[in-house]
Amino acid sequence: MFNMKYEKEINRRRTFAIISHPDAGKTTLTEKLLLFGGAIQVAGAVKSNKIKKHATSDFMEIERQRGISVATSVMSFEYKDVLINLLDTPGHKDFAEDTYRTLTAVDSVILVIDSVNGVEAQTRRLMEVCRMRDTPVIVFVNKLDRDGKYPFDLMDEIEKELNISLHPLSWPINMGKEFKGVYNLYDKSLQLFTANQKATEDNTVPIPDLSDKMLDEKVGERDANQLREDVELLEGVYGDLDTDAYLKGKIAPVFFGSAVNNFGVKELLDTFIHIAPVPQGRETDKRHVAPDEDKFTGFIFKIHANLDPRHRDRIAFMRVCSGRFSRNTFFKHTRLDKEVRFSNPYSFLARDKDVIEEAFPGDVVGLFDTGVFKIGDTLTEGEMLQFTGIPTFSPEIFKELVNKDPMKTKQMEKGIRQLTDEGVAQLFTQHGGNRKIIGCVGELQFEVIQYRLLQEYGASCAFTPLSFYKACWMTGDKKAIEDFARFKQANIMEDKDGNLVYLAQSEWFLNTEIQNNPKIEFHTTSEFKTAMAK
Ligand code: G4P
Repeated sequence: MFNMKYEKEINRRRTFAIISHPDAGKTTLTEKLLLFGGAIQVAGAVKSNKIKKHATSDFMEIERQRGISVATSVMSFEYKDVLINLLDTPGHKDFAEDTYRTLTAVDSVILVIDSVNGVEAQTRRLMEVCRMRDTPVIVFVNKLDRDGKYPFDLMDEIEKELNISLHPLSWPINMGKEFKGVYNLYDKSLQLFTANQKATEDNTVPIPDLSDKMLDEKVGERDANQLREDVELLEGVYGDLDTDAYLKGKIAPVFFGSAVNNFGVKELLDTFIHIAPVPQGRETDKRHVAPDEDKFTGFIFKIHANLDPRHRDRIAFMRVCSGRFSRNTFFKHTRLDKEVRFSNPYSFLARDKDVIEEAFPGDVVGLFDTGVFKIGDTLTEGEMLQFTGIPTFSPEIFKELVNKDPMKTKQMEKGIRQLTDEGVAQLFTQHGGNRKIIGCVGELQFEVIQYRLLQEYGASCAFTPLSFYKACWMTGDKKAIEDFARFKQANIMEDKDGNLVYLAQSEWFLNTEIQNNPKIEFHTTSEFKTAMAK
């Protein structure tokens, strides 16, 4: 069953995402990493695909961004013989669910924190998702060229707020105007700060022994002594990095730097390729799939619609989990129990959409989709299994979909089904009825739906706000659920897979139902990992 012939391919791959609160420096860091990988030649080549914070209702901007984000969805590059797949995540909070799904396709993340702002709202939410899967995290504290928080305080804040133990691998010498550089605790060298450092420049001075007078020469006596004191403290507290604990998601190594100045980025990348996990296995509904299995498996974690409204084809992003994916080969689409093959699968190497012949675990392949895929779909060489761990979270905002043009009912139904397959929003249909409720994380998504239904399907719609608090999936005693569904008819919907969902009006209502129905478990994610406390 296991085939060592792919071992080399697997071991040279690293698949990860950079996550951050908007404006912490994700785009800038991405660009610098790509420069190191030679994937781009000049700075400024990676367009920020974030939607500016103030543009909360500018859906034309979203359309424009959608074009950009196909190109930057996956960025693959080679660095020191390691093939790195960097998966992009949308910055805007209204598209958080897209980010959560992308995180199911990576093996580790780099978390960027702004040294001035510290831990911010979205940092917290993203880390919660990483914690659900014990994803290994490396922290990059950015913008050391600005007067930020004192590094020990910042470390404390990150540990407390994100509930993870940190392990600094570099340490800054001052910050802001006084920023002189970082000391690399891992290979015991001093990196002197210069603004706008070129990828080829190297300002590294090996200082294996901190009592070396060279340190005083380089940074001045006062700062040299401060560094000696800090490092003594750090080494006493942290010792050597426990790589196993990092790989288990328990300890996060920390680097300090300034992305815009390309400072501290090379150290981050060098350590990353050294310690970050190689492609890992994934759970399915039947068994664990290991990457070095002989037979191919993969799953769809993202679907991107074509920007041209005349063409309904879409791009499905598939992560290869095991074996070897190859072009023009029949694979099993397990949800539909159907054989499918792809004549033009493409890779994302060096920004070109090149047709590829084969792909290995950790790779992401773009597949042209004429509408057969939903998020979470699985492809195999015949085995009937389905990858799990791609949960749907309860939306935050609920609105009823109103069809404004009865002549276009069919187009509307088709459009909303396809858009929700893509994961733009969640669709709930009245149990035993026809009412349609759309659930989203943010208001922007409703605008996207309205706009795209009209542009792509010719269907015009409106939304009526509904005051629901959460969507809850239910497990437990079948009869109790049936009775509950009958009793609470007005609040019972079906999700796209036909699962019953209870829409609670408020936290109080939900808690009351939890108490009144001890035989039913209520869950705010569709994968039932987080049953609500009773
Ligand atoms: P994001 O993708 O996480 O949203 O952040 P992005 O990289 O777009 O960076 C947000 C802003 O922070 C940008 O400035 C960027 O230049 C700046 N920045 C990134 N790294 C550093 C750093 O190390 N030090 C300092 N001082 N600033 C940094 P902007 O004015 O919003 O955009 P731009 O016009 O400079 O591109």
